[in-house]
Amino acid sequence: MLDVNKIKKDFPILSRKVNGKRLVYLDNAATSQKPKAVIEAEVEFYRRHNANVHRGLHSLSEAATVIYEEARKTVAGFIGGEADELVFVRNATEGLNLVAWAWAAASLKRGDEILTSVIEHHSNLIPWQRLSRAKGLKLVVAGVAENGVLDMADFANKLTRKTKLVAIGHMSNTTGAINPVAKIVKMAKRVRARVAVDAAQSVPHLKVNFKDLGVDFLAFSGHKMLGPMGIGGVLIKKERQEEMEPFLTGGGMISEVWPQRATWAAGVEKFEAGTPNVAGAVGLAAAVEYLTKLGMARVYEHEKKMVAYALKRLGEIEGLRVIGPKTTESRGGVISFVMEGVHAHDIAQVLSSEGVAVRSGHHCTMPLHKRLKLAATTRASFYIYNDKKDVDALIDGLKKVKNVFT
Ligand SMILES: Cc1ncc(COP(=O)(O)O)c(C=O)c1O
Repeated sequence: MLDVNKIKKDFPILSRKVNGKRLVYLDNAATSQKPKAVIEAEVEFYRRHNANVHRGLHSLSEAATVIYEEARKTVAGFIGGEADELVFVRNATEGLNLVAWAWAAASLKRGDEILTSVIEHHSNLIPWQRLSRAKGLKLVVAGVAENGVLDMADFANKLTRKTKLVAIGHMSNTTGAINPVAKIVKMAKRVRARVAVDAAQSVPHLKVNFKDLGVDFLAFSGHKMLGPMGIGGVLIKKERQEEMEPFLTGGGMISEVWPQRATWAAGVEKFEAGTPNVAGAVGLAAAVEYLTKLGMARVYEHEKKMVAYALKRLGEIEGLRVIGPKTTESRGGVISFVMEGVHAHDIAQVLSSEGVAVRSGHHCTMPLHKRLKLAATTRASFYIYNDKKDVDALIDGLKKVKNVFT
């Protein structure tokens, strides 16, 4: 079991008040809070080690390069990858765009199909829409089954020999449903399709192993897993890297340059043009160390307990309907819901006045909301520092919402 009282003390922001109330932070799917260890690691880099990497021969630059590459090893290892498979990017969005433009644009040809789903976050949909338009590819979209989980029968139907890439989310940021990625990879292999996984919501909350899953690309964001904003990564299988063009071009990603042409650096450096976010990478490595100490199995179990308790207590509120799985199986710590007769924004505002931070709107999953005929939902999402008291505060707030609006 996680010692939540002890964990809370590691997060300075959790001791502050919001609107005169204790901060109850339930917007973790948007971004997580940061422990002291992460904040301090980033400050320490600037205080003692700041220099550009892969360029200078002076000691400070050499040391900064070692620190940056150590961070790469730590972060890749946390997700079951090798250092030379991890490209640092700003966030999952950039990672997925990198896959679209550096791999898919170079490898797919007119008429090829990309299979995704209607559940996806816009970051795992819009890059494929743009790429498909630009390259004459066909974007095929699998549907959602009851309960907000991927419609596997529809997915299986739409996966054909024409499918060259499956772009799928690991865990939905709206319904909390976890997709059976290992099974999807097996199915994709049968038609020789590559698999790109949007792991923005899974890497922070469950043990994810890039190698064991056997996917080709896996993108994630540091800021959702206790790390700083502006750093994330995309793991790319070595064989795929060899098929790829650069994403951005400029300094840091070349081997040799002439006035009219250039050749590219080997390995992941080819995909990291310009000065990287070294302090961010160091902060993310500190976040990974923090999570490793807790143990990802315990993190997941803790969230499962939170979800079970929250689902039970949400059931007390008349007219409230949970969108997505109603059990704790194959789902993570995200619960979206609607309340009869009350707009999601009004719910979020009343909750905020009680110090409870939740998200309201479409959560960057507009097609899913449209398919479910919902204008907006309210979303509570949990992490390691949430406890039953936080769920109770949410429920008290929702009871207040009911009194105000119905
Ligand atoms: C499932 C999913 N994919 C992608 C993203 C995009 O993450 P970022 O904004 O950090 O790029 C998010 C963020 O909410 C997400 O939940």
